[in-house]
Amino acid sequence: MGKKLIRGARVIDPACGRDEPCELLLEGGLIAAVGHDLPAEGAQIINAAGLVAAPGLVDMHTHMREPGFEDKETIATGTAAAARGGVTSILAMANTCPVIDRPERVADFYNRAMRSAKVRAYTVGAVSLGMQGKEITDVEDLLSAGAAALSDDGVPLMSAEIMREALIRMKPSGLPILSHSEDGDLVRAGVMNEGALSRKLGYKGRPAVAEELLLVRDGMLAADVGGYVHVCHVSTKGSVDYIRRMKAAGIHVTAETCPQYFTLTEEEIEKQGAMAKVNPPLRTPADVAAMREAAKTGVIDMLATDHAPHAAHEKETPFDEAPNGFTGMDLALTITYGLVREGVLTEADLIRLWATEPARVFNLPVNTFEPGAPADFFLFDPELEWQVTPETLYSKSHNTPWLGKSLKGRVSAHWIGGVKIV
Ligand code: DOR
Ligand code: ZN
Repeated sequence: MGKKLIRGARVIDPACGRDEPCELLLEGGLIAAVGHDLPAEGAQIINAAGLVAAPGLVDMHTHMREPGFEDKETIATGTAAAARGGVTSILAMANTCPVIDRPERVADFYNRAMRSAKVRAYTVGAVSLGMQGKEITDVEDLLSAGAAALSDDGVPLMSAEIMREALIRMKPSGLPILSHSEDGDLVRAGVMNEGALSRKLGYKGRPAVAEELLLVRDGMLAADVGGYVHVCHVSTKGSVDYIRRMKAAGIHVTAETCPQYFTLTEEEIEKQGAMAKVNPPLRTPADVAAMREAAKTGVIDMLATDHAPHAAHEKETPFDEAPNGFTGMDLALTITYGLVREGVLTEADLIRLWATEPARVFNLPVNTFEPGAPADFFLFDPELEWQVTPETLYSKSHNTPWLGKSLKGRVSAHWIGGVKIV
């Protein structure tokens, strides 16, 4: 791996304490030095003036759809979207077909990833067999096979008994159970946020309390057994309030939210129909404001996409029949950078939420520019304007409410372990 000298980028890694254009020297797949007037002999010179250099992001909530739903996404195409979005590491959820509920299936994921993943790819294992909520999986064997965490994400785990036992058996690993927090009874027939708009449109709603009920239950179970629960895709102001209170009470709980919940409201359904259908649903302006505030203050620990690809024909069905979910990895950084532009988050917040915290929780390589660290980073052009079209997206599916929109800011190069992948 040849020596490379990248000149002129502004390095926004907080660990290196620099916020000015400088030079980055790569050697042998590692960051060799960060600074000024670094030795250029024998190095390929890369001009990065006007660009931002940032440590690779970790997207701890994605759906790769392989095996079983390769018409929606594969590990190859999903990780291509990750690479283009500045995401160096992904965690894939277990709701594939078959479900990743046995050690052989965890091993199968890593074999597939070895052949086709463009970024570092890890899988989550299921908590219940077949994600049926009836019988617990072999927690220890899944972890030994390399599961990065356990979750039945995609469906609520309604059995408090299984959740409690899983929390107990996860304890030696220090890893969380990832909770898809929705009360299954309360959301069963719902297709959007419950409120004035769902009543106006005549759709059955998914009430905010459904989310809050299950995350409080899981927090109580974690408190009871001294376990660790992580709440997926937080979408309501009430959830944020409960998470804040649980943390203050010393309960081991962390949480994530996703770009759609800090930028879009349920109004999007009137404009975009099924393209705006996601689970949990888009909520109200007060909920969006709460997500922004909670990400800033750390009540929400990390951001993730919940990248959930669906084929075009599936989203083109009537609203109440269409599947839930948005693709997200191509766009997450660009959209989050919009909050930096608005002054809601700093660049350091962005790195904390998208890289440092998820890497810490899941024991992944902590991306920094410290000399000796793996050269896992990207260059981002904050001024580049581009159009979101099927041609500019790398995911196999294009079910994003940002389709057709113009956005500002895009990754222009990305290295993993010193290898240029974009
Ligand atoms: O919108 C969603 N789509 N939410 C989930 O929890 C699951 C996901 C999927 O797998 O399609
Ligand atoms: Zn999910």
